[in-house]
Amino acid sequence: TMMDKGNYRHFMAKEIHEQPEVLGHAISQYLKFNEGKVALPEGNDFDFSKINRLVISACGTAYYAGLTAKYWFEKYARLPVDIDIASEFRYREMPLGEGDLALFISQSGETADTLASLRYCKEQGMTIGAVVNVPESTIARESDLVFPIFAGPEIGVASTKAFTCQLAVLASLAVLAGRQRGNLSEEQEKELVGALSELPAHAMQALKLEPEIEKLAPWMSKKHHALFLGRGTSFPLALEGALKLKELSYIHAEGYAAGELKHGPIALIDENMPVLVVAPFDGVYEKTVSNMQEVAARGGEIALFTDEKGAEAAGVAADQMIILPELPEIVAPLIYALPLQMLSYHTAVFMGTDVDQPRNLAKSVTVE
Ligand code: G6P
Repeated sequence: TMMDKGNYRHFMAKEIHEQPEVLGHAISQYLKFNEGKVALPEGNDFDFSKINRLVISACGTAYYAGLTAKYWFEKYARLPVDIDIASEFRYREMPLGEGDLALFISQSGETADTLASLRYCKEQGMTIGAVVNVPESTIARESDLVFPIFAGPEIGVASTKAFTCQLAVLASLAVLAGRQRGNLSEEQEKELVGALSELPAHAMQALKLEPEIEKLAPWMSKKHHALFLGRGTSFPLALEGALKLKELSYIHAEGYAAGELKHGPIALIDENMPVLVVAPFDGVYEKTVSNMQEVAARGGEIALFTDEKGAEAAGVAADQMIILPELPEIVAPLIYALPLQMLSYHTAVFMGTDVDQPRNLAKSVTVE
């Protein structure tokens, strides 16, 4: 049956390994590969040039997907994005306008805070869009536009494949919005669609890093704290990496924007503080290197997730390095998610915690 773990020890492992396949499903519904274009699933046409702002709200991992999407919508579509966690959004009394599209991201489509935010926006007469995994969920039913992510059932409490499928759909929407708003040329759209169409292959490559990542688990499991750093779209990923680690292994972990290190967390750095840096060799890489140097100078232990070029340019001895393939900018956040998922998975397995049912957590939180 579909609820079967197959040959895997845990649903989480199965769901991590399903990512090449489900990412393939997701993009095939949003991308016209031959034409090099984004096209929405039938009946959900939307013209992003008709709006002035996107207002996103979500919880947990889905919120981090939204945070990543903010960078994309603003960069590729010049569409301003306001995003908040659902439990705060509702109480902010933020000014909402006619030119806004309210977008909710939820794997289950049942999260109480997200649903309450949706209903709040509906009362204000806003158009409601939802990026959901469960198409028959309450959030999907109460939305005007539904953007399914096609990840298939996700059983493990910690979200993995739903996160990357949410990102795949959001990236597609951002590219579509970019074209509709006249910010991307046909050529640029084609190039981005081409990059996104390689997602399954890249995910397959990333999974091959598993034996190397598994070797980090004994080291990680001895730590009581961990700091994850990233800049640009790697920043939400640092937040997601920290969330996964704390959820699964109960190691206290924090994600920080790399540039914010000097404004606080640097005080925590000593030889007992592992610092996990998510940094593909992109436009902000050099700045992140200087943050790593600040960590190294204070004796912090660095585990760097980067590519060949990044490894060469690191200029500081990272204690551990996980080298990913070189990736187009728009796909990097999705693919870098995989080693982070595998790291928390293997750390949890090594420590013997309940991977699929971490203590005190629920798959779908239906209380506010
Ligand atoms: C719970 C789950 C998380 C999930 C969050 C939001 O906290 O444990 O994995 O990210 O809810 O859930 P949703 O179904 O709305 O995406």
